[in-house]
Amino acid sequence: MAQTQPILITGGTGFIGSHTAVVLAEAGQPFVILDNLCNSSPKVLDRLARLNASPLEFVQADIRDSAALDALFARYNFAGVIHFAGLKAVGESVAQPLRYLENNVSGTINLLQAMDRAHVRRIVFSSSATVYGDPAVVPIPETAPLTATNPYGRSKLMCEDALRELHAADPRWHIAVLRYFNPVGAHDSGLLGEAPNGIPNNLMPYITQVALGQREYLQIFGNDYDTPDGTGVRDYLHVMDLAQGHLAALRALDTPKLLTVNLGTGQGVSVKDMVDTFARVNGVPIAHRFVARRPGDVAQCLADARQAKALLHWQTQHNLERMCADAWRWQSMNPQGFDTPL
Ligand code: NAD
Ligand code: UFG
Repeated sequence: MAQTQPILITGGTGFIGSHTAVVLAEAGQPFVILDNLCNSSPKVLDRLARLNASPLEFVQADIRDSAALDALFARYNFAGVIHFAGLKAVGESVAQPLRYLENNVSGTINLLQAMDRAHVRRIVFSSSATVYGDPAVVPIPETAPLTATNPYGRSKLMCEDALRELHAADPRWHIAVLRYFNPVGAHDSGLLGEAPNGIPNNLMPYITQVALGQREYLQIFGNDYDTPDGTGVRDYLHVMDLAQGHLAALRALDTPKLLTVNLGTGQGVSVKDMVDTFARVNGVPIAHRFVARRPGDVAQCLADARQAKALLHWQTQHNLERMCADAWRWQSMNPQGFDTPL
């Protein structure tokens, strides 16, 4: 991959995309961002500029807009695409399945068709550990059975299937399917982080908002799971490690192939561990109450992370303490998210 050819980042103003932009910039890899801003702020671009990670161009457009994609692919000789753009709220997907399938699946297929027309056949795709459903074995290997338990998960599985069919039909494609576990943390400058709209669904942003006093207490969903302390166990990884995983995947796609890789630490952390670690590292107690299990949650979900090491030469560098410290720095410096003047 020639260094001078840019990469297209779809969803590049979002949580993971913006951190990946910083990693690409640090590696001297130019990039363009396309995002329709349905779940991110244009102010992310100011923060990227302060981190010397500006895109060559920011295009406010939708991945379902073929004309916009064709025009963009005509302007740049892209080396490949890192495709983050998508809707990601599980509960919302249950209420609005068609919106999720249309945005995530039709959007991805539209993007792949535009790439094919432009002869850009290298893509890194954001999949999720959600494709493993309620896993029979943990840590979960990439060969585990795949299933969908909600329309969001279905959309990821359908995109994965489309990529597998595409590669089978046309082996010129370079495809990395990255199955993320639970990304948390923030850039250590405090300039970039996760800024969910409304009440956070995910554990870490909820904890940071309790720490800030924006929410009264954390509800811990279930303390009767078959786990060491009864609370749910997940594989949390620092978003900067996850971002590095995308650079590693691009590099691994030097020849046509289809790679399917878990990105996680392989270490299980319970909700209680997370609350205790956050409080200890940051010196901020997290008020919490145990409540009923959240429907659809699994007891444990953690990665078998060996393939990522073998195929991408990638492994995580940041520990749980660092994830908690960076998440808190971001939240405390930006109580209003990207609307906070800095
Ligand atoms: P995010 O919502 O912060 O970023 C996604 C970005 O995509 C947003 O900026 C949004 O505006 C944009 N977008 C959505 N639909 C679009 C469309 N049709 N056209 C153009 N832009 C569009 O989410 P994130 O946490 O950065 O996640 C990035 C990707 O990783 C998503 O595909 C998500 O499903 C996947 N993923 C996330 C997690 C997680 O826990 N954050 C876990 C597994 C997988
Ligand atoms: N939890 C709480 N209280 C909260 C929020 C979460 O106790 O307010 C618990 C959950 O029950 C779970 C753990 O914290 O045990 C992690 O929950 P998250 O919502 O942060 O993450 P999930 O593992 O449930 O879901 C994430 C992504 C999904 C993705 C899934 C699998 O949000 O999009 O990982 O990859 F599908």
